[in-house]
Amino acid sequence: MIKLIMNGCNGKMGQVISRLAEEDSEVEIVAGVDINTQIKNTYPVYTSIDEFDGEADVVIDFSHPSCLNNVLNYCKRTKTAVILATTGFSADDKANFEAASKEIPVFFSANMSLGINLLISLAKQAAKLLEGNFDIEIVERHHNKKLDAPSGTALAIADAIDETLSYPAEYVFDRHNVRRQRKSTEIGISAVRGGTIVGDHEVIFAGNDEVIELSHHAASKEVFAVGAIKAAKFMCGKSAGMYNMDMLVAETI
Ligand SMILES: NC(=O)c1ccc[n+]([C@@H]2O[C@H](COP(=O)([O-])OP(=O)(O)OC[C@H]3O[C@@H](n4cnc5c(N)ncnc54)[C@H](O)[C@@H]3O)[C@@H](O)[C@H]2O)c1
Repeated sequence: MIKLIMNGCNGKMGQVISRLAEEDSEVEIVAGVDINTQIKNTYPVYTSIDEFDGEADVVIDFSHPSCLNNVLNYCKRTKTAVILATTGFSADDKANFEAASKEIPVFFSANMSLGINLLISLAKQAAKLLEGNFDIEIVERHHNKKLDAPSGTALAIADAIDETLSYPAEYVFDRHNVRRQRKSTEIGISAVRGGTIVGDHEVIFAGNDEVIELSHHAASKEVFAVGAIKAAKFMCGKSAGMYNMDMLVAETI
């Protein structure tokens, strides 16, 4: 049984993970950490991770960047692996957890969905094979409350493809202002906003007389929670270092 500490246990993601962990015989949440203690949990909840003095294998963190130092200090002191799924880390924060990975196993992914990470891996393979002959376009769709566009995930897909191509790609976000033919080195990125769409991402490779489309549709936040629990299992027994979803997908395939 893998023993987990859920940092941010009373947030939206923490609650989904708590529910999934109860249904999973391989994992057990032995403690939760949250500044919000208004929710009844099936495990003890602390307002700071330092208050927990039991044993744990992995800390899952879906909280706030301000928790990072406390979590890293706890993990370094107790030699516990950590899954960092919180978003919004600064460059200093990233340097901080990369330095910590010299002492403990650190998993970081801004998108914990296994499906999205598989989509990225497939898009890289497709780009390598099709480059030069196919135009690449990314279309993402999200709910009408989302403020940023395009999504961070659409940009992550574009970056992964760009790293694979033998030439630097030019990202084109808006065709409205420019009246010219698209260049073959472009990656077009379009955002659609409407209703309650949780998150759709589509990568289109358009060639002469043939089109290949890779798409991912997220119906709920559960996909991120499932990925986080998979990551916790993946991290058990790992040595110190940085780990990510790419590695998990590669090890699983
Ligand atoms: N990597 C991914 O795939 C992925 C997916 C979904 C959400 N996220 C990120 O995970 C984070 C949490 O998302 P959410 O939707 O659950 O948010 P949320 O606001 O519902 O939950 C955050 C929880 O953290 C708690 N918290 C905040 N500061 C704390 C502190 N100092 N100490 C202890 N607890 C503290 C809050 O009380 C809250 O319960 C966000 O950064 C979000 O962007 C990442």
